[in-house]
Amino acid sequence: MLKKLYLLLALLLTVAMLLIACAPPAPTAAPTKAPTAPPTKAPTPTKAPAGPSGKLEIFSWWTAGGEAEGLEALLKVFHERYPDVEVINATVAGGAGVDARAVLATRMQGGNPPGSFQVHAGHELIDTYVVAGQMEPVTFLYKQEGWLDVYPQDLIEILSYEGDIWSVPVNIHRANVLWYNKAIFEKNNLQPPATMEDFFKAAETLKAAGITPLALGETWTVVHLFETVLLGSLGPEAYAGLWTGKTDWSGPEVTKALNNFDRMLNYVNEDYAALSWDQATQLVIDGTAAMNIMGDWAEGYFKAQGWTPGVEFGWAPSPGSAGAFDALSDSFGLPKDAPNREAVIAWLKVCGSKDGQDAFNPIKGSIPARTDGDRSLYDDYLKSAMDDFAKDTIVPSLMHGAAASPSWQQDVIDAVSLFIAKRDVDAFQKALSSACVEAGVCK
Ligand code: GAL
Repeated sequence: MLKKLYLLLALLLTVAMLLIACAPPAPTAAPTKAPTAPPTKAPTPTKAPAGPSGKLEIFSWWTAGGEAEGLEALLKVFHERYPDVEVINATVAGGAGVDARAVLATRMQGGNPPGSFQVHAGHELIDTYVVAGQMEPVTFLYKQEGWLDVYPQDLIEILSYEGDIWSVPVNIHRANVLWYNKAIFEKNNLQPPATMEDFFKAAETLKAAGITPLALGETWTVVHLFETVLLGSLGPEAYAGLWTGKTDWSGPEVTKALNNFDRMLNYVNEDYAALSWDQATQLVIDGTAAMNIMGDWAEGYFKAQGWTPGVEFGWAPSPGSAGAFDALSDSFGLPKDAPNREAVIAWLKVCGSKDGQDAFNPIKGSIPARTDGDRSLYDDYLKSAMDDFAKDTIVPSLMHGAAASPSWQQDVIDAVSLFIAKRDVDAFQKALSSACVEAGVCK
């Protein structure tokens, strides 16, 4: 009997223990404080994929006022999006990339490319780096980011080679702009010169008043001036024809253009060979010179010095070139074997983004390469450039890599250098004609 009682007790004990084990936990002591709100986010089960990190070298020649600040603004957009990437802002001073391009060529040939580098859309990009097999196509980015719909078709064409697209443009610059000091013009009762003849008249007035009519700088700026004189003298169709073999380099229209150029050089500062482009533009700010014919990066420079468009400085198409837009575009590409490819692709995405372009261009003095830029962010000059770009005849710039192959461009630079030393129009025209033959474009 006693044994049965023990068995029953043991059974009861086991059942009780089992019940305790299965029961929900007993409430702990009643909370003394109101319960805190439950966490709003459930903990993420897996880690978010890491963005690019490490170092990224961006190579450009943007060191002068306006262009350096524009680059900073673009880099800021990049930093905000990709905070783990450390950018090495590698610059080689020298407008138009005259020095940077030489350094870059050596690095590319030596298999030591930067992550990404500034390069002009058109011949400079294609003939130098793409044909040599030194770049990776970026067509996939255009598809992925929807850029095929937001970049102008003409621009995509000059970035294309053998069915692929090879770089990402950040802007459109205009080369044929005449900038002038408004106070000097008002004081001398002058209007911005519309034609070559107007220019010479205004230049005479300024000269008589003891002011340098036209500020000029080192050789590449002389070549820049020269291309605007070709455009202003020949008109856009014949100018464009110079680079396709349609316009005869030895014809009388070109002779006329060369004479205009020769005459114009009588009105520039004597020390031009020693000045960089921005030092030449500075002469207009200082009031020692009245005008400067320069691309609209000069607008960025004026603004960086505290000048306001339409207040201290005015602008007009370079003499004779109204209705024509001498265009160029700065772009960035993806070199083969670029260090930190993932970060380079991130950079290119920012270069092609609306935010990136709208941060960069209002400071740089250029208009967005995309067609959907936010117009309200651009000043009066840049709005006028946007309007002109939409309605003018677009022609390619020689000095800024769009019109001719780099070797032809160099032949023209050499011909201009010789011309400024000798001032022999006939020899100049012969040199230019043979440069076209040499380039394989003229017979
Ligand atoms: C041009 C370039 C501009 C500006 C200018 C002066 O070739 O496209 O962005 O940098 O040179 O440096």
